[in-house]
Amino acid sequence: MVMKKRMVSGIKPSGQLHLGTYIGALRHFVEVQDEYEMVAFIANLHCITVPQDPAELKKNLTDCVALYLACGLDPEKSIVFLQTDVPEHAQLGFIVNCHTYLGELNRMTQFKDKQAHGEKNLSGGLYTYPPLMAADILLYSPDFVPVGEDQKQHVELTRDVAIRMNNRYGDIFTIPEPKIAKVGARIMSLTDPTKKMSKSDGINKGCIYLLDTPKAARKKIMSATTDSLGQIKYDPENQPGISNLIQILSSLTGDRPFAEIEQEFEGKGYGEFKRAVADAVCALLEDIQAKYNAIIASGQIETILAQGAAKARAIAHPKLKEVQRAIGMEIVEK
Ligand code: AMP
Ligand code: TRP
Repeated sequence: MVMKKRMVSGIKPSGQLHLGTYIGALRHFVEVQDEYEMVAFIANLHCITVPQDPAELKKNLTDCVALYLACGLDPEKSIVFLQTDVPEHAQLGFIVNCHTYLGELNRMTQFKDKQAHGEKNLSGGLYTYPPLMAADILLYSPDFVPVGEDQKQHVELTRDVAIRMNNRYGDIFTIPEPKIAKVGARIMSLTDPTKKMSKSDGINKGCIYLLDTPKAARKKIMSATTDSLGQIKYDPENQPGISNLIQILSSLTGDRPFAEIEQEFEGKGYGEFKRAVADAVCALLEDIQAKYNAIIASGQIETILAQGAAKARAIAHPKLKEVQRAIGMEIVEK
């Protein structure tokens, strides 16, 4: 039997999944699942690196699993599970942490940005977030890690530390590569198209959540910030708002070339263009939400997660043992 190549990725269940997460990451998990063995987990360790409300987190976890499935992840083909159901993640996380230099952690922009914003009481977990992410990846020896642009640096760190550990202990890890789509790897906020669309936007009009009503989503798109140039042109420098909407429309309509979209809307107003974007987004939300409701009603989530965790552990556990043995942390009597 020919073994499928593997991909690994995760999403944090902090807040609700949004259109940026879908376009930048989740849709790619679904696209690859016939060709690759897709290991898709819910990063419920990473999400507690910033404070979470327990009741809200619990709800977000369920929603996150249901949305994975509603977006098309098939638990028969892909491995879907919660990070904490596979304790090997935290165990290898500590080991990788011990091989990561402070200088490397200090260079991570995600942490630096939070610090620069003057956020108080940042946790140790936030600082050591990247080695845990490296462990998530290395446990499964994937060829690729499909992520949005903002995670590239973390995957690069994963490669650096894996190479370092391989040099020291022999070839224990496969060196993974980030897989970042050309279009949609950084969807911007609708209200401030110089900033990434993000969960931390709260109920902000800049972010479309996958569970927003189509009516609310349409309103957000129709009031998205644009410019006064009056042309539909992909030019992120001078027309960041319009360029972002072009990316969204292209991503949701089979990656249509930007030039084709520009041509279709040549000489037409922003209102007409925004309506087309809103139609595409609403069609997506309606489809996802119908499936989401069916999944929640089915009561299948726990079973699916238990089966996913068992499949994941069957890969992760031997890898952890192999690493511990290579490091000399285990007594192997023979
Ligand atoms: P997170 O929700 O932060 O755990 O991110 C989950 C995945 O979605 C990661 O691969 C991110 O890079 C990707 N992602 C998050 N926000 C965006 C965005 N605005 N545009 C594109 N990809 C994103
Ligand atoms: N850090 C990722 C994010 O914020 C989530 C994540 C955790 C992840 N572990 C991972 C992504 C492993 C890819 C592979 O989006």
